Amino acid sequence: MIKDNEIVDRLQGVLDNVDERRPSDIIGDIVDLARDVDDSHARALFEGHPVLTSYRPILTDLYRKYILSVEEAELARLVSRPTAGDQLFGEMAGEAALMAYNRVSDMFQHVDFLPSHRFVMVGCGQMPVTALHVNDRTQVGEIICLDVSDKAVAAVEALGATLNTHRLQAFRFDGQKYDYCSANVIYIANMVSPKISVVSRVLDTADRSAAIIIREPYSFGRLWAECAEDFLDSRLVVKARGCGSRYLSRDVYFQRR
Ligand SMILES: C[S@@+](CC[C@H](N)C(=O)[O-])C[C@H]1O[C@@H](n2cnc3c(N)ncnc32)[C@H](O)[C@@H]1O
Repeated sequence: MIKDNEIVDRLQGVLDNVDERRPSDIIGDIVDLARDVDDSHARALFEGHPVLTSYRPILTDLYRKYILSVEEAELARLVSRPTAGDQLFGEMAGEAALMAYNRVSDMFQHVDFLPSHRFVMVGCGQMPVTALHVNDRTQVGEIICLDVSDKAVAAVEALGATLNTHRLQAFRFDGQKYDYCSANVIYIANMVSPKISVVSRVLDTADRSAAIIIREPYSFGRLWAECAEDFLDSRLVVKARGCGSRYLSRDVYFQRR
């Protein structure tokens, strides 16, 4: 078990060279270092060494660049293929997309997805693997993908055509402004910002029966994504937490007080 000072020194070592290295290598080093650091341990390290959290803006930007580059590469590969007919996304996804796709598998144990339902994902990105997993595995009637990025909206439309599905719809929308009144299941992606404002908007407009899932960072994942649980809206309580993942995020299932 490596000592705290050594963890901090190593993390500092990685952070000192952020300008010279590829985002994937930096994020990879931090993820490897987090192997021995659970969430409460990481929070204690951040409290004891505030310099670490001063890197949040840089790491948030690096992580966003890394994830977007992975998503763009997979999108280019998929839409260059002939239309897939009835093939499932899970059968045609590349390694990185499949890893991201599988990391939300426990969602189907925690949430009921009925054909009459409307699933709304905030922060779908250019490779909306969460929405695509719902498309593959459920008969949910409407899968609404929201993103502030035009590129993400265009990507979802292209993927819908490649997958020959009409259930996927994409809209350029800030999650802070959308009206969730007809949503039955609401999923907020890890990189969504400002996350607590989006959660507040969901609680202000969604029906009390709507299932709310937020992808949350843990351990050093807190260095590149916001954690709504840290400022949890008093109208919510945590019902369950899903499995962890390579990039230190997990699904958290909430219920209304
Ligand atoms: C890169 S994706 C990652 C999600 C991943 N594709 C998935 O399926 O789980 C995160 C996206 O969230 C979007 N985003 C960030 N803040 C947002 C907000 N307030 N409203 C809507 N989209 C947002 C970003 O533009 C980015 O495309």
